[in-house]
Amino acid sequence: MLIDLICGARPNFIKIAPIVKELKKNRINKFRIIHTGQHYNTNMSKFFFDELQIPKPNFNLNVKSGTHSKQTSKIMNRYEEIILKKKPDLCIVVGDVNSTMACAIVAKKNNIKLAHVEAGLRSGDLTMPEEINRIVTDSLSDIFFTTSIDANKNLIKEGKKEKNIYFVGNTMIDTLINFKNKFKKPHIYKRYNLSKNSYFILTLHRPSNVDNKKNLMILINEISNSCKNSKIIFPVHPRLHEVFKNQSLINDNIILTKPLSYLNFLYLINNAKGVITDSGGLTEETTYLKIPCITLRSTTERPETISLGTNVLAGNNIIKINQYINKITLNTWKKSSIPKKWDGKTSNRIVKIINSLKKNDQ
Ligand code: UD1
Repeated sequence: MLIDLICGARPNFIKIAPIVKELKKNRINKFRIIHTGQHYNTNMSKFFFDELQIPKPNFNLNVKSGTHSKQTSKIMNRYEEIILKKKPDLCIVVGDVNSTMACAIVAKKNNIKLAHVEAGLRSGDLTMPEEINRIVTDSLSDIFFTTSIDANKNLIKEGKKEKNIYFVGNTMIDTLINFKNKFKKPHIYKRYNLSKNSYFILTLHRPSNVDNKKNLMILINEISNSCKNSKIIFPVHPRLHEVFKNQSLINDNIILTKPLSYLNFLYLINNAKGVITDSGGLTEETTYLKIPCITLRSTTERPETISLGTNVLAGNNIIKINQYINKITLNTWKKSSIPKKWDGKTSNRIVKIINSLKKNDQ
């Protein structure tokens, strides 16, 4: 059985790393890593492959940036060329980025069995490109690997057969557990005299938060004022480069950095007082690490990070954001627990299931 494992953007690399490790451990060597090239800068891609010990991709489709349709169609064209030369038996896609959806469509159009890791997440917000990617990918998938029971319920509601849905846990947390002892203090830690629980982390990349420059600046100013005496480390996603090219921040408690490597970033998260973000993956990592997290969105596809975890939703409501920052500062954040099966064994479960499918097919 030949397996294609698709990745394209930063969170995908974190999600495939433990699956690759587990495939190799089980001597399943007939797999190809297909990197779509959606993320291509050294610090958005190569650093992740190096640190997470992911083998060099068998193919890099080099699609780079573009509008959603351009990026998606380029991925489709180029992945199809590979499939037409040699067809895999199973295509595994992870997460919800454009690369996930594009390759899912190509695989299914070529009658290849499709497995989706992190299936069934729904925010209900179709203005998010990721929600469209999730719905399309799940509408085509044959096998669903989920991170929560809520995701199973969403899939069943959409008419998926229970026997094809496997609640396995979270591969992003597998990576976190695998590398927790290797988190690496970044240079800025010393340079800015950071110490445990003394600073916040801010990350922003959602079009709804960053594409309107005026609103973005208001949001950043308010966050800076609310955090008053604490430093805020703000690794700047490439999507924001244009914004900051001709604009310097006047807030002297904000420290801008380039995107950080996985081990540096997780070191910072693990020692932060709190995280303010619009990322979905980060709400899972902070839940596992028990770090307070304020999400600057009004919906989430990961409800367990709120019901069990350390996450809260604040939208872009300045009053709410300020109240939550105060709670963190006063050390009165809610108690939390770690969701079921976020235990570092998810990829092992996935590979066991793949192995059993392989046997059934023979
Ligand atoms: C993508 C995903 C998002 C995920 C995020 C993680 C989609 C629809 N979005 O968003 O779900 O949370 O990745 O980071 O798939 N750029 C670079 N260098 C790079 C990568 C991107 O300069 O290596 C720039 C591009 O010029 C582009 C912008 O960043 O204009 C956005 O990149 P893109 O991959 O389209 O979406 P993200 O915002 O990164």
